[in-house]
Amino acid sequence: MKKLAVLLWFAVPVLVFGQDKDKFINDLMRKMTLEEKIGQLNLVTGGEATTGSAVSTDVEKKIRSGQVGGIFSLSGPAKVRRAQELAMQSRLKIPLLFGMDVIHGYRTVFPVPLGLAASWDMNLIERSAAIAAEEATADGIAWTFSPMVDICRDPRWGRIAESSGEDPYLGAKIGAAMVRGYQGDGSFKENSTMMACVKHFALYGASEGGRDYNTTDMSRIRMYNEYLPPYKAAIDAGAGSVMASFNEIDGIPATANRWLLTDLLRKEWGFKGLTVSDYTGVNEMIAHGLGDLQAVSAKAIRAGTDMDMVGEGYLNTLGKSVKEGKVTVAEIDAACRRVLAAKYDLGLFKDPFKYCSEERAASRIYTEKTRAFAREAAAKSFVLLKNKNRVLPLKPNQKVAVIGPLVNNKENMGGTWAVSEDRNNSVTLLEGLRNGPAKAEIFTARGANIYSDPQMDANAALFGKTTGRDSRSDREMLDEAVAVARKADVIVAALGESAEMTGEASSRTQINIPDNQVELLKALVATGKPVVLVLFTGRPLTLTWENDNVDALLNIWFAGSEAGNAVADVLYGKVNPSGKLPVTFPRNEGQIPLYYAMKNTGRPHSGNPGFEKFRSNYLDAPNTPLYPFGYGLSYTTFRYSAPVTDRAVITAKEPVTVTVNVSNTGDYDGEEIVQLYIRDVEGSVTRPVKELKDFKKVFIRKGETVKVSFTLDVSDLSYYYSDLKLQAEKGIYEIMTGPDSAETEMVKLELR
Ligand code: NOJ
Repeated sequence: MKKLAVLLWFAVPVLVFGQDKDKFINDLMRKMTLEEKIGQLNLVTGGEATTGSAVSTDVEKKIRSGQVGGIFSLSGPAKVRRAQELAMQSRLKIPLLFGMDVIHGYRTVFPVPLGLAASWDMNLIERSAAIAAEEATADGIAWTFSPMVDICRDPRWGRIAESSGEDPYLGAKIGAAMVRGYQGDGSFKENSTMMACVKHFALYGASEGGRDYNTTDMSRIRMYNEYLPPYKAAIDAGAGSVMASFNEIDGIPATANRWLLTDLLRKEWGFKGLTVSDYTGVNEMIAHGLGDLQAVSAKAIRAGTDMDMVGEGYLNTLGKSVKEGKVTVAEIDAACRRVLAAKYDLGLFKDPFKYCSEERAASRIYTEKTRAFAREAAAKSFVLLKNKNRVLPLKPNQKVAVIGPLVNNKENMGGTWAVSEDRNNSVTLLEGLRNGPAKAEIFTARGANIYSDPQMDANAALFGKTTGRDSRSDREMLDEAVAVARKADVIVAALGESAEMTGEASSRTQINIPDNQVELLKALVATGKPVVLVLFTGRPLTLTWENDNVDALLNIWFAGSEAGNAVADVLYGKVNPSGKLPVTFPRNEGQIPLYYAMKNTGRPHSGNPGFEKFRSNYLDAPNTPLYPFGYGLSYTTFRYSAPVTDRAVITAKEPVTVTVNVSNTGDYDGEEIVQLYIRDVEGSVTRPVKELKDFKKVFIRKGETVKVSFTLDVSDLSYYYSDLKLQAEKGIYEIMTGPDSAETEMVKLELR
């Protein structure tokens, strides 16, 4: 069977060779029936990971009869080969495209994207995507549904964990780095690169109330300036595909939004690649209220959604719509052409089995190298939020009590969207600390369940990762933990969320550490021993009590396969933490949305302590966050000079260099992320009080000072006006530098 398929295909490469892409596709499309063209638009799931109630059926039969263009969530060279062989039995032997949600690593799992973003390290992020591609392609996958570049300013939304946080500039850099990592030079010559899919286009992160799949509504000027830049950057970096989001924009779901998918994406931005709906995104427009399956399918294809993920609205209704004149053959041809072009670009017509190699699968997946990288990436994603009296780093001779519901839970180390991880291999905190340099004993206790309430605990484990619920009462677990803690010199309380408390369909209205865990923490603090809170989370949490009462706080997000080893590296000072928050941590939920790049309003709060009547603030909480965007400590300390510019005036021809001296004034060598923000103080439209425009991550030895320079040109000062034209406005700008978005010093600059 296998040989036959290979033989059949042997003739085709000869034909392909020397033909250009258009001619090849034209020739092929001339041979295709309308049904076969519609078949190419059908994306089915292989059934290993589904994110909705619909599941694809009769997949084998459909492949043989040319009714499937691609499959996702099917992996492993043998399975992929088998499915591809079925495609080789179809009339025209058009190869299938194999996709997967490769989001933050494949088998070797890296920190959740929000954690990777906290590294602010574009090389690291690009390498993480390249390694993920290397592993996934070795397992038969040629297409990943990543990067997710939705701007998120609402931490109630569970999918914030999959994002790069709140900032368009940082998000754009990361989106582009991920695309480069997955796609390499974009030629797909190597079978170790795969096609990226920019998602969720667009504005999904602005779902109202942080509730998943919810409505979004936004002005165009805000879209252009604050939400669209990361999609645009990822597309400019060459991303081969784009996924339409579930939400509506201007009252029309993205999947059927012609302005979005055609006018903006293709005409304005020049995108030439493939578009795909999200999981049953076409069918869901029935519930949105746009008509029956035939009507919504017609709307989707006419708007510019090429492939229909799982729902089969296209497969079942487009033929009829063509007959009835509701959809044209030209519209179907355009979509089909883009599917075929993606397959062509990936080299699948030359070799449908290009990504099926048992040898690569055996040698490239989950290796020493990938694990070493995972450990490095994890440690670089951690953000030190507090370190009173230098409790950290720990000393190897200190007796440590490591306490918490997930300290020895392998299933939860990878975090959300780690569908291909090998959970049995992930390193837990307890294992990591025991592998570390500790000379003294390490004690442990569970201390608490994730939630006291069994139903909440079960919700926190949906999608297949158990929290290992303990049947003992809260009291019993807490008493045991306190007794264990008393034997130690220092307590490491590892608390927070389980992996599935963020990600898809994991919105929360209260973003605290669950109460029963806080009770445990209070009891541990009451022992009088130093307490280090190691935080598992996929979103900003409200941590006011924790911040006031623990000695140290290290946010480890969900750190991936090597989580435990990386935590030990940082806790014991082998790695000096350098991560900075890519998103604001509010004091309480009522402040949401809270982000640094806010507008000033006409009645800004003065910034002095206390409530101010008839000013824009709250009676019961300050406007400021608990931890601002860009914030993160190190085991060493850094001192910043004020920024200086090499000229006071910037023009289109003359960029400006901004320089700041940063000194390492502490006792450790360390990396620092130096940030540059701007503000247009006098615009024709209102502008944010601060906008990140550049950053540099620099290594500074203790006692040394480095000069950090940034070049600003007029494009850095540009923004979209009300008429949606990108321009820079003449006048005064404030240029600010500092260690985070709250603590900056300023120099003025005039654009002439
Ligand atoms: C639904 C999610 O919204 C999307 O991000 C994902 O890629 C698809 N399911 C496929 O699993």
